[in-house]
Amino acid sequence: MDLIIAANWKMHKTTAETIEYCQAIRKDEELFKGLELLVCPPFTALPAAAQILKGSPIKLGAQDMHWEQKGAFTGEVSSAMLLDLGVEYVIIGHSERRHLLGESDLWVNQKMKAALTSGIKPILCVGETEAEREQSITEEVLKRQLSSALKELQAETVKSLVVAYEPVWAIGTGKAASPGDAENASAYIRTIVKDIFGKDTGDSLFIQYGGSVNEDNIGLFAVLPSVQGVLVGGASLKADTFSALIQAARKAVES
Ligand code: 13P
Repeated sequence: MDLIIAANWKMHKTTAETIEYCQAIRKDEELFKGLELLVCPPFTALPAAAQILKGSPIKLGAQDMHWEQKGAFTGEVSSAMLLDLGVEYVIIGHSERRHLLGESDLWVNQKMKAALTSGIKPILCVGETEAEREQSITEEVLKRQLSSALKELQAETVKSLVVAYEPVWAIGTGKAASPGDAENASAYIRTIVKDIFGKDTGDSLFIQYGGSVNEDNIGLFAVLPSVQGVLVGGASLKADTFSALIQAARKAVES
């Protein structure tokens, strides 16, 4: 199974910075063979990224989308608009949207359904806050987020789904989860999906770890049995650092 390594740029990079980054990362693309790689720029940088990455194995992801196709939704972007730009993946339910912008479990579910219907692959983000971890309710939180996000979806579609386990306390803090915690949470996520959709679906699911992943620790996560990739924020913002991180992941998997 390929590792899926995704760069979530969050609210970073102008068009000029995007062009520079994508040109630089393309120089290393021979080194990325056999991995599923994607960059998720902000909406405004997607056209530039799409243009530079055309013909490259590096795929394009968006950071969010609305569930409606069109309409009076000021500031929102639909799946049709993303597909138009060659977007293949979309991050749904990132903790920054859930906790800073009030995104609800219901919205996450509506976005999941819309993404899957339109043919964009969702990367569903789940994870507990520091307070929830301290109260030892991580599993409860993961179960609630998953069962609600995946409500009314078909087992067949869930099979190809990517779920990113991103503990909120590990995001942007430099304090990554321990490999043991990441493995336990990922194994639990798979168990929940198996309980809802059956063994085959749970076994086929791709699970990423996200939260302070960098070149030095990626090898620890890349080899975990329940983890098939990473979702990277800060360490993906410079092309050379991201390229080094990808090569470190490959080395860990191949050794
Ligand atoms: P950092 O890698 O900066 O901790 O961010 C992780 C993240 O939120 C990716 O979606």
